[in-house]
Amino acid sequence: MTVKTMKTVKKIVFVTGNKGKFAEVRDILASRGIEVIQNKNGYPELQEDELEPIAASGASYVAEKLNMPVMVDDSGIFIKALNGFPGPYSRFVEDNLGNPKVLKLMEDEKDRSAYFKTVIGYCEPGKEPLVFPGVVEGKIAFEERGTGGFGYDPIFEYEGKTFGELGDEIKNTLSHRRRAIDKFLEWLDSL
Ligand code: IMP
Repeated sequence: MTVKTMKTVKKIVFVTGNKGKFAEVRDILASRGIEVIQNKNGYPELQEDELEPIAASGASYVAEKLNMPVMVDDSGIFIKALNGFPGPYSRFVEDNLGNPKVLKLMEDEKDRSAYFKTVIGYCEPGKEPLVFPGVVEGKIAFEERGTGGFGYDPIFEYEGKTFGELGDEIKNTLSHRRRAIDKFLEWLDSL
């Protein structure tokens, strides 16, 4: 049996203000011998229609600034009937409109398809940034349901239950963020 070891990366700065996200990523990477350090200072976000360039430029910016390997995580909800809105503007829409107004926009829409997406951006100083997307497909509910999770969780239905009803433990096994983290881990393990 061959044991894969991380030869190069031992410490990664994770730029996030979100305690829950940080703890989740810290615990997963600790089991692979990688220390994760939280940095809450943020980064200038590009105005783009896609999450990939936002995550890539954020990781690259902070990696050069701190001279350390850096990861960032950028997420959003993309609603088909609204042509992908709010997508990269999900934070702004949550803070300024909230779920009831999103549901209002969807009032007469029959096609409820939507997906959550997370893109992890990773960059080492002097190198090109890498991106690891994760997606989970679902539907926009007709009303908010469930008390778990955060943000859009009460209006995002996955196989009949909203993420708010599923609860964090189950959500974290199948979420967009989990899927992006898994891709990032696969890449780390392949080094
Ligand atoms: P961020 O890039 O992860 O900060 O997320 C951008 C926006 O999407 C914020 O308004 C978050 O609350 C929302 N969001 C991100 N991930 C999730 C999730 O897993 N469930 C519900 N809302 C989310």
